[in-house]
Amino acid sequence: MVEKAQEHFEKEPPHTAIKHRLFKSVYDSCISISSSFNNKNKEKRQFVYLDLYAGCGKFNDDNLGSPLIALNSSKNQLDNDSNNINKINMILSEQNTENAKHLSQNVKEYIDSNNLSQIITPIVLTDSWEICTEQFKQGLNKSDWGMIFADPFSVELKLPDLKKLIDKSSKLKDILILINTNAHERVLGRTDEESLSKIADYFGIKVKMLRLLKRQVHDIEQLNNAVVIRRLISRTFKDIDKDFVINVAITRTKEGALENADRFYLCLLTSSVGVANAFLDTYSELLNEKEQQNKNGQISLFDNNTDFTHFELTQKVRDISNNKTMSLLTLFTKLYNDFYSWKDASPNEIPTSKNIKTAINNLVEQNYLKILCTEDTKLKYMTVDGKKLKSNAFQKKQNLREIFIQN
Ligand SMILES: C[S@@+](CC[C@H](N)C(=O)[O-])C[C@H]1O[C@@H](n2cnc3c(N)ncnc32)[C@H](O)[C@@H]1O
Repeated sequence: MVEKAQEHFEKEPPHTAIKHRLFKSVYDSCISISSSFNNKNKEKRQFVYLDLYAGCGKFNDDNLGSPLIALNSSKNQLDNDSNNINKINMILSEQNTENAKHLSQNVKEYIDSNNLSQIITPIVLTDSWEICTEQFKQGLNKSDWGMIFADPFSVELKLPDLKKLIDKSSKLKDILILINTNAHERVLGRTDEESLSKIADYFGIKVKMLRLLKRQVHDIEQLNNAVVIRRLISRTFKDIDKDFVINVAITRTKEGALENADRFYLCLLTSSVGVANAFLDTYSELLNEKEQQNKNGQISLFDNNTDFTHFELTQKVRDISNNKTMSLLTLFTKLYNDFYSWKDASPNEIPTSKNIKTAINNLVEQNYLKILCTEDTKLKYMTVDGKKLKSNAFQKKQNLREIFIQN
């Protein structure tokens, strides 16, 4: 009988393609920023990629899995004229022996056929990642820059173990974790000790504490297990050394089609506005495609009306800035550190730099917000009438620190 771990790689389902688009946006922006950030002198840099649940690298239908997407994106980066990355260390762990065999072959084939063996050194570990943490740590220590991907099937991960891996050496590394909220909610729906201890172990809390939280949340009218999971995710990453914790929901495939439901979170831990924005841009694009498909390509009467399409985000910026003066960075952090729904969110509600710019400028026009910045920054980031923000205001974290909004 073919095991589930192998069966998964027969044909890429549509929701996995969505996950891979979001993964690619993070990898692409992460490696490109690693090459260029604060690098006027064009110093050569190493990059590290850790894939804890690596899979086969490729599906039988030839669609690429995370390790091969990472290789392909790395090649594009290395081919770029302005590239400053001169070494990429990839450490990939896969506990299923058959999958690991395919993975080794697929990775070797790609590297050999693209003559990359001098620059990309892959290590495939045929084991569970939890017992290979030393190799991963060594990989992390080799480079300041990099990305970690954790893509388990279900609730088998223990976040405290992952947090131990992401220590001080991970300051400039971005982390993407797939959280199977559907499986969590199902297990959390049970009351027996064994089921609840799976969830408690995943989040690193005691079963007693989990029961208490479940009771507290359920006592509040209409709150359910999805809320318990969101609270646990926020709580787990509260002390992480990253500026932003962004959760976007994705759906699953049922009978060949995408459901209209929130089934997984892709949780991005990053301190880079560039990486966060690339991730959210792709998410907004995906929601846009979903909306277009629902409408059979028809454009709605409201689609060109920014007041209407940006209503939710404008309202959120309004609430956050009510009676306050704050830097754009504080605003971004509050908008980023949230949970976005595949089922309910509209593409214009996703806090991409472009959408936030529209929302702020809407509020400036309504005289709800004022922009505060020095004469110098005003010249750089504001329109000639000195009222509205231009796109370059949102391009760097430093710019976001220098510009304030006031209600
Ligand atoms: C969802 S798949 C990963 C897919 C892959 N990231 C991709 O994008 O193509 C999960 C994989 O993790 C493997 N796995 C499960 N537990 C593991 C562990 N503790 N350490 C390493 N691999 C594991 C499974 O055998 C399976 O191939």
